[in-house]
Amino acid sequence: MTLRLSVIGTGYLGATHSACMAELGFDVIGLDVVPEKVQLLNSGKVPFYEPELDAVLARNIDAGRLRFTTSFQEAAEFGDIHFICVGTPQQSGAYAADLSQVFGSIESLAPYLSSTDLVVGKSTVPVGTANQIAEILKVSAPGVDVAWNPEFLREGFAVQDTLEPDRLVVGVRSPEAESQLREVYATMIDKEIPFLVTDFPTAELVKVAANSFLATKISFINAMAEVCEAAGADVVQLAEAIGHDTRIGNRFLNAGLGFGGGCLPKDIRAFMARAGELGAEEALTFLREVDQINLRRRSHTVDLARKELGGELRGKKICMFGATFKPDSDDVRDSPALDVAVALANAGATVVVHDPKGTVNAERVYPTLTYSTDAMQAAVGAELIIHATEWMEYREIDPEELAKVVAQKNIIDARNKLDVPTWRAAGWNIRALGRPAA
Ligand code: UDX
Repeated sequence: MTLRLSVIGTGYLGATHSACMAELGFDVIGLDVVPEKVQLLNSGKVPFYEPELDAVLARNIDAGRLRFTTSFQEAAEFGDIHFICVGTPQQSGAYAADLSQVFGSIESLAPYLSSTDLVVGKSTVPVGTANQIAEILKVSAPGVDVAWNPEFLREGFAVQDTLEPDRLVVGVRSPEAESQLREVYATMIDKEIPFLVTDFPTAELVKVAANSFLATKISFINAMAEVCEAAGADVVQLAEAIGHDTRIGNRFLNAGLGFGGGCLPKDIRAFMARAGELGAEEALTFLREVDQINLRRRSHTVDLARKELGGELRGKKICMFGATFKPDSDDVRDSPALDVAVALANAGATVVVHDPKGTVNAERVYPTLTYSTDAMQAAVGAELIIHATEWMEYREIDPEELAKVVAQKNIIDARNKLDVPTWRAAGWNIRALGRPAA
């Protein structure tokens, strides 16, 4: 008999995982505690923007393989394997992760689980959490096995990353759990996607180690950008030159406004906090520097804006191109673009924010900024434009056309994606982070 799956939590991770598991042919039930989300998902709509996901979701609901519920009892009784995909945000006022949703969902599922069930954690958690869950279930749901199967999906590529991941990692304690997970991922294993079997702590650490490495790579090139600015060098050329060394590689080497989002910033902080608890704090002190370099990009961009506007931000009109933490997403969590927009507004500038997909979410967090859904409209009368999120739309803007609506032709390319010579030829004063001024 085919395995039946439940997926607990329907955020970016859970909604994608449930739809993609159904796409693989499994019968899947997704659970969320927010009734509006469940209603929306059952009608085949995704509550956030993620390319391709709508189609996969709708197709599998229509095929009768996928549905959503708010009932833990229904989800627990339906599934043989239960994937925990709830959020693990940063605790307010601390670096550590808030695990209340993880433990809350285990507690809610436990009374309805069968002794042959398998609980599989996918959320990003501090090392040691899987073991804690196993101890809890030993008492509240005897016989239930636990596994840890971290997720590496990127927003904007969530479907692709789930169906064709670089690798699969499963932390298990029993051969049964391993064989059940091999059955779930059989299609991918057949395609020779590496399937790595580890213990619990290694599986948990793989995820935070991977994100820490990515964050470090970005902060490394941003540190080089600081030095390039001081020395009059060009970080884009530097990145290209070092990236040709295959040991370094050119991916994740884009200097600019730095990283944001719901994962990298909070994951490196939670990792530092956990290492501290384990007495291994010293091993990760470099991540504090990674975080600092990253945050400095935001204040540096504000300083550069002030400089470009003659030393004064008060009363200046600034247009922000971008509000999301990266393109092809509507996610504004810890968005560098919005952080800069708020800092400029706090310094007295009038800021108009444009984003192709993120303005609704941005307005929820920062209702006092002005938002526009049309880039040209947002730029009317601007004395400075800041390219803060690298949506393709901005690369396609004609600098000659944009020049007609602004008050002054000043632009800061905080993502190093605009073609500097083209903008200069159109009469713009363009400053790009980590690159020489004209
Ligand atoms: C990240 C990891 O990539 C993913 O594997 C993990 O599962 C979750 O966290 P995501 O948060 O979707 O995914 O975004 P990612 O594509 O990694 O980008 C993170 C941030 O880094 C963005 O703000 C992006 O703009 C920035 N970034 C990325 C850079 O500033 N420079 C780069 O070269 C690459």
